[in-house]
Amino acid sequence: MSRTPLIAANWKMNPVPDGALTSDSPFHPQHGVDTIVFPTFLELISCIGEGLPTGAQYGHADSTGAHTGDVSMTMLKKVGCQFVLCGHSERRRDHGEEDSDVVAQAEAALRNGLHPVICVGETEAERKTKRHKQVVERQVRVLPLREAVTIAYEPVWAIGTGVTPTPEQAQDMHAFIRSLIPEARRETTRILYGGSLNPENALELLQQPDIDGGLVGKISLGPDNFAKIVLAAIQARN
Ligand code: 13P
Repeated sequence: MSRTPLIAANWKMNPVPDGALTSDSPFHPQHGVDTIVFPTFLELISCIGEGLPTGAQYGHADSTGAHTGDVSMTMLKKVGCQFVLCGHSERRRDHGEEDSDVVAQAEAALRNGLHPVICVGETEAERKTKRHKQVVERQVRVLPLREAVTIAYEPVWAIGTGVTPTPEQAQDMHAFIRSLIPEARRETTRILYGGSLNPENALELLQQPDIDGGLVGKISLGPDNFAKIVLAAIQARN
């Protein structure tokens, strides 16, 4: 089964990179590679206006209400977002989001016609004590996997550290995650890798059979580097 590779840029709390909002920017889908950009809330509309496939980094599960500082899935859909990140480890860490919140967000996204990109991944301590599969299984089993969603495996110890799992370790986890997906969706669900992905390590990770693309943080702030990762996704499929 061939899944179209997807390379997504998570710009986190950074401005849209220079050169991203042009018609020839590498953040547009190309050559059989899908792309998504995840800017801050403030820059969603500029990205949507440029025609980039755009997602929010978070959305509240309720449609409206007394939630100061939050933005709902309903509102995100209304301005033209197509995607939303759910359960990024930085949200779990900074905002105390738990599995139940992540599930509520993913379900709200689906109800509102947004495609959730749901992040899972173990901490360094969990990997060191060999509980990584147990933790990821707990995070994955609760998800609404009978619907069309994307999963991003982002080991917390690889995010922003310059350290990545070996391609074999990553493939092993991706295959494990795929085995947890109900059969009807197993072969079509894309599972992205995230955590210190860069132009040097992208090819060997993206060549793994169960790695269907990447969720790129810091390196995606440079359009040239992002373009190199897109190129690696093309090469990996050839
Ligand atoms: P880095 O690519 O900066 O490690 O971040 C990965 C990430 O958190 C993407 O969501």
